[in-house]
Amino acid sequence: MNMQHILEAQQFSRETLAELFHYTDLVLEDAKQGSLRGKILASLFYEPSTRTRFSFESAMLRLGGSVISTENAREFSSVAKGETLEDTIRVVGQYADVIVLRHYEEGSAARAAAVSEIPIINAGDGAGQHPTQALLDLYTIKKERGDIDGLNIAMVGDLKHGRTIRSLAYLLGKYERIEIDFVSTPELRVGKDILEYLTRQNVTYRETETLSNIIESVDVVYQTRIQKERFIEDSIHADLLTVDKSLVERMKEGAIIMHPLPRVGEIDTAVDALPQAAYFRQAKYGLLVRMALLKMLLRR
Ligand code: CP
Repeated sequence: MNMQHILEAQQFSRETLAELFHYTDLVLEDAKQGSLRGKILASLFYEPSTRTRFSFESAMLRLGGSVISTENAREFSSVAKGETLEDTIRVVGQYADVIVLRHYEEGSAARAAAVSEIPIINAGDGAGQHPTQALLDLYTIKKERGDIDGLNIAMVGDLKHGRTIRSLAYLLGKYERIEIDFVSTPELRVGKDILEYLTRQNVTYRETETLSNIIESVDVVYQTRIQKERFIEDSIHADLLTVDKSLVERMKEGAIIMHPLPRVGEIDTAVDALPQAAYFRQAKYGLLVRMALLKMLLRR
């Protein structure tokens, strides 16, 4: 893997994914050596986060590096005085070796990379992409299912505004015999650009409104929350069916439920104790994948 920045899922090929996942399997050994000692990660978050920020910071600390951080850059950085993203990136680049950036505008990570002398990692750019989430999602599928080719994946919820859906669809398109069921209300359907990409990649996809109708056939349920913070329209019908025990009992042997989290009622907490509930294991895999990414970016 020879990348300067991590901006979008399309940057990754099957080969680079295999290399990253192989390295992820081994990264805890690397942590014992403290191999990023002396390196500094800057986390620059203009939107709230629990998993992405803490896991990147934890990843850097576990590899022996250090962290400087602002968890509310809109309020607690000089953006509040009118500084541009570009100027902020140029300055933070003098203090750190890598910047993890979450921003509310689509395309912001690419703008940051255009002026940055150090690697930029896109930790979510508006409704655009969240590539490192997709990497950990794919790693989770591989660890839980053994293989990615040939799987049937249901992507459920707010497919219009969900950046994790977009990034994961781009990665799944690299694999063979994938089938995707997009499950949403008509107002929250996945973007045409994603459907066109999947068609070009020969991925079979279907669009439906009800998970219950297809639950017996899927290997992975990838549930997402409604992204109300990105709604422009007030009239969107945004109720989601809750995944509950009765639905999970109808899933086929070995099938799993994933969620990028946070959940806001889409999965009943009674499901958490079932073996199919992979979402907290998914969060743990996120730490390992982000450790591997930092190591691979900073060893250049
Ligand atoms: N999955 C995810 O991006 O979670 P956070 O918003 O908590 O980082």
